[in-house]
Amino acid sequence: MSVAFRVHFYFFLICLSALRGESRYLEDNEISQDGIFSLLNSEIKRELSEDIIYRRPLRCIDMLTMEGQFTFTADHPQLHCAAFFIGEAQENIGIEYNSVNIDCSGGDFIKVFDGWILKGEKFPSSQDHPLPTYERYIDYCETGSIRRVIRSSQNVAMLFFRIHTPGNGFTITIKKIINPFPCNVISQTPEGSFTMVIPHQHRNCSFSIIYPVQIKIAELTLGHFNDLQVKKPRCGGAGDFVELLGGNGVDPSKMFPVADLCYSFSGPAEVKIGCDNTVVRMVSSGKFVNRVSFEYRLLDRRDLEKQKGNSVEDFCYSAE
Ligand SMILES: *[C@@H]1O[C@H](CO)[C@@H](O)[C@H](O)[C@H]1NC(C)=O
Repeated sequence: MSVAFRVHFYFFLICLSALRGESRYLEDNEISQDGIFSLLNSEIKRELSEDIIYRRPLRCIDMLTMEGQFTFTADHPQLHCAAFFIGEAQENIGIEYNSVNIDCSGGDFIKVFDGWILKGEKFPSSQDHPLPTYERYIDYCETGSIRRVIRSSQNVAMLFFRIHTPGNGFTITIKKIINPFPCNVISQTPEGSFTMVIPHQHRNCSFSIIYPVQIKIAELTLGHFNDLQVKKPRCGGAGDFVELLGGNGVDPSKMFPVADLCYSFSGPAEVKIGCDNTVVRMVSSGKFVNRVSFEYRLLDRRDLEKQKGNSVEDFCYSAE
């Protein structure tokens, strides 16, 4: 595994934990403001809420987990910048330009990407995203979209930008938009639980955990269980199934299959995946209501040791 990639992931871990600390602080603040707010009329409320928006400068390489207003100002030509946004599983990201001062004809740009791109790999993969890849980029210089909110299709989005002239820059507002039916998700934490449901939709969903984890599948319901279909000899030929994937990049379509699950069951099934990225992916034909529930937790060093010699270990950690 490349050192650069590890550095990326450690950067994530550090940023995520630092920013999560900050966001807890902000939430506390908001709760204590609520009491005062209820005494005020709506006009004053509106003025005040403008004032308590979280604001901070945006860095050339940045990671944001919270709502607020973020301003980037180039202090020298900054040509390779990327800001990553992530929300909770049930939140999509809304991005709005407040002001933009860049030189599009001079080669500057700001592009929103619907998902994340890391080392040339996309999440969600093109097999899981509802839009073709070219529609997932929204270029400010082509659309000039001030005052229009750009919405992501899942809990992650990012911004690529390049600015040549010192002093130029832009301000954006990030908002979280509730998504009651999350499909593709990157987990913010190495520990949690999730239920993925695809009700009669022809689509694929991937839940990605960017840590080595142990996954416990509590329940899997694939519609054809109730139809008493004859068991197929193999998974995945046609029809609906869940696959567990492991790998060191973010694109699920480039990861290694660890297990295929194509029959409903209840009762825990546990798998340890010693990779930088673990994905639970559901492929759905649209004929059924499919559902999978799972829990996950970080693999500790002892677990990783024990994985030595096992094929999962081989494809993720032996390539150093
Ligand atoms: C879902 O993924 C499978 C491959 O795993 C692909 O053949 C299929 O076209 C995808 N379905 C959709 C709706 O994109």
